[in-house]
Amino acid sequence: MDKFIIEGGRELHGSVRLQSAKNAVLPLFAASVLTDKQVTIRETPPITDAYCMAEILRELGADVRFHDGDVTIDSSEACCHEISSALTKELRSSVFMLGSLLTRFHRAVIAYPGGCDIGLRPIDLHLNALKRLGVRIMERDGFIYCECDTLRGAEIGIDFPSVGATENIMLAGVKAEGKTVLQGAAKEPEIVDLQNFLNSMGARIRGAGTDVIEIEGVRELGGVTYTPVKDRIEAGTFLIACAICGGEVEVEGVGAENLGLLLHKLRENGCKIHIKNDKIKLSGSGRLKCNRRIETMPFPGFPTDLQAQITALNAVSEGGALIVENLFETRFKYVPELQKMGADIEVHGRTAFVRGVRKLHGASVTAGDLRGGAALVLAALGAEGVSEVLDLSYIDRGYSDFEGKLRALGAEIKRVRV
Ligand code: UD1
Repeated sequence: MDKFIIEGGRELHGSVRLQSAKNAVLPLFAASVLTDKQVTIRETPPITDAYCMAEILRELGADVRFHDGDVTIDSSEACCHEISSALTKELRSSVFMLGSLLTRFHRAVIAYPGGCDIGLRPIDLHLNALKRLGVRIMERDGFIYCECDTLRGAEIGIDFPSVGATENIMLAGVKAEGKTVLQGAAKEPEIVDLQNFLNSMGARIRGAGTDVIEIEGVRELGGVTYTPVKDRIEAGTFLIACAICGGEVEVEGVGAENLGLLLHKLRENGCKIHIKNDKIKLSGSGRLKCNRRIETMPFPGFPTDLQAQITALNAVSEGGALIVENLFETRFKYVPELQKMGADIEVHGRTAFVRGVRKLHGASVTAGDLRGGAALVLAALGAEGVSEVLDLSYIDRGYSDFEGKLRALGAEIKRVRV
């Protein structure tokens, strides 16, 4: 298992070439089995979650090839509708496969999904919506068995704007008989991207990005070559890294509207932010001020996927901050690791009370989930002395060449094989 060795205290300067969004690419892999024509997803990031989705498709009988940064998927020979527990336990996004497999084969069997250990992550909203489309579901021995004669369009309401459930409903409704109307949809930019991808294949979907999505079922979907949106969470991670370390960093390819509340919070910290078209430049110097309160919310609220990183920034800023995590129950598991570096943070349930300290110090810490792991790297970059961040498997799930991009900005970070 690899680890990072990081010598803190370097300012960051330069621009970052962003990867395609992990959370956009994963559902596109799932959507590729909706057609027996060839699908090419351009600029697919070399992250382990993408490789895992590729393995899932191969297990179904699809041909998946990575070449020059793109991935080409030909699922004309796919014939299997079951995904083994080894792969679904590895990756929660495999739950999207339910909608796709039902559309393609009218049946699907998957093991209960896994992913980062950040809470219970139930899938009741997905299953209830599929039932509305005419799917019969049985859960037994950790497996979910789904089947239907035909998928029939329906009016569906979801009580909470779940990203995954919204995407699954789109994947199950795209070729259903008649019209599906989803009320209470999630509005994340990656959902708009899935709509654009599906419509490029011939689907008739509108409303993504609002809370009502309308899907007119179509008979056939064709092949497509598609470039996904850039990763707004990666962009946010690098901007926060610069706020912690000082310097000037520019990210390109993500509209400011997709990072709205983060930019507002970073201004509150005292950072200067310059926006020009799809370029966002942040400059910061000296010790920043704490945000008084941050609450994670579904888009366009503050993203839960940047909660750990902004907590790391508050840990070294002046004053105190209250961070409330509304999406996932156990998303403060990285806090004891930050405490090893000298952070003064108390967690009570879903709330973290942060008292900013002047500096963190180097320590040996372990990444226990993707975004928490990224936060530890950022904390180490700003700390005094040398840190090691152990177990990079989670970070590698979502950030491609994290260390290379940081080094190009002037950070002192290297990967060591243990
Ligand atoms: C997606 C993102 C993840 C991000 C999250 C929230 C992908 C691949 N992952 O995950 O990075 O952190 O959105 O922005 O896009 N819930 C239920 N029942 C369900 C489904 C969800 O109660 O059937 C709850 C979850 O427990 C959680 C909340 O809804 O509390 C949000 O989950 P959801 O939006 O579904 O997140 P994911 O799609 O898993």
